[in-house]
Amino acid sequence: MKGKDFLSVADLTSAGVRELVERAYTMKRGKDERPLKGKEFALLFEKPSLRTRVSFEVGIRQLGGTCTYLSQQDVGLGVREPEADIARVLDRWVDGIIARVFSHRSLELLAEYCEIPVVNALSDLEHPCQAMGDLLTMQEHKGTLSDLDVAFVGDGNNVAASLAIACASVGANFTLASPEDYRIPSIALDEAQRRAAASESKLRWVSEPSEGVRDADVVYTDTWVSMGQEDEKQERVAIFGKYKVDEDLVQAAKPDFIFMHDMPAYRGQELSEGMIDHANSVVFDQAENRMHAQKAVLAAIYGE
Ligand code: NVA
Repeated sequence: MKGKDFLSVADLTSAGVRELVERAYTMKRGKDERPLKGKEFALLFEKPSLRTRVSFEVGIRQLGGTCTYLSQQDVGLGVREPEADIARVLDRWVDGIIARVFSHRSLELLAEYCEIPVVNALSDLEHPCQAMGDLLTMQEHKGTLSDLDVAFVGDGNNVAASLAIACASVGANFTLASPEDYRIPSIALDEAQRRAAASESKLRWVSEPSEGVRDADVVYTDTWVSMGQEDEKQERVAIFGKYKVDEDLVQAAKPDFIFMHDMPAYRGQELSEGMIDHANSVVFDQAENRMHAQKAVLAAIYGE
């Protein structure tokens, strides 16, 4: 890590991203390591979670640590108490905060007001742990990361933003196929562009999904309505209609492409009923790898 926290993929250097994926790959296959022995974590979640919560809880235990789960009802981040007070209190008891928040600003405030590391378990801007698990999944299934063609179809959201920076870091080409007004926010895009220039990989935006997935090694999609955007659901479903990933669309990808989705998946919206169970789908490996990647993140922060 460049600093104490992991709020963005940009908190790792490009070399650091690659090293973290290698570490996750080794840890997944290696012997027991206990870098978190005696360490206690607060899992502070403003939004619902299946994969992130369980994979962190189990991963922390496997590395020798313990954790306490706190929901928004328990804590009232920024509502019942300001982030600065919550951070300074938790700092006295625990060794790290793993937080899922609506606003990325809440993460920055938590990080600013405590000495202990803060890890982003999803914000409106980024989902860096997801991106690390996704690179591990691509590495396992494609045998390489450099020069892979990754096509993300749909919303240029938090998952897309982290994945764009992650792909650019390791020399994979990243294409977003989205409506013009739903591109990756410039703060993440600028970082991805700097890294793509350094790794000589391509970073593209197209509006046509069929152009985006042409000859892709990886076809990736995510919900059109992220947590916190429920009020925009009707409008978004109408705007994103042509970005549905289905059996016809993926015909344009390479024959050995892999299909990825971070889940939860809304069958009939961003993907057809059959895509999760498509022969080229790796979504459950992808879900599993969240844990291995997060263990590598924590080992990188707390290991020697
Ligand atoms: N983009 C989605 C990811 C869910 C894991 C969301 O933020 O709701």
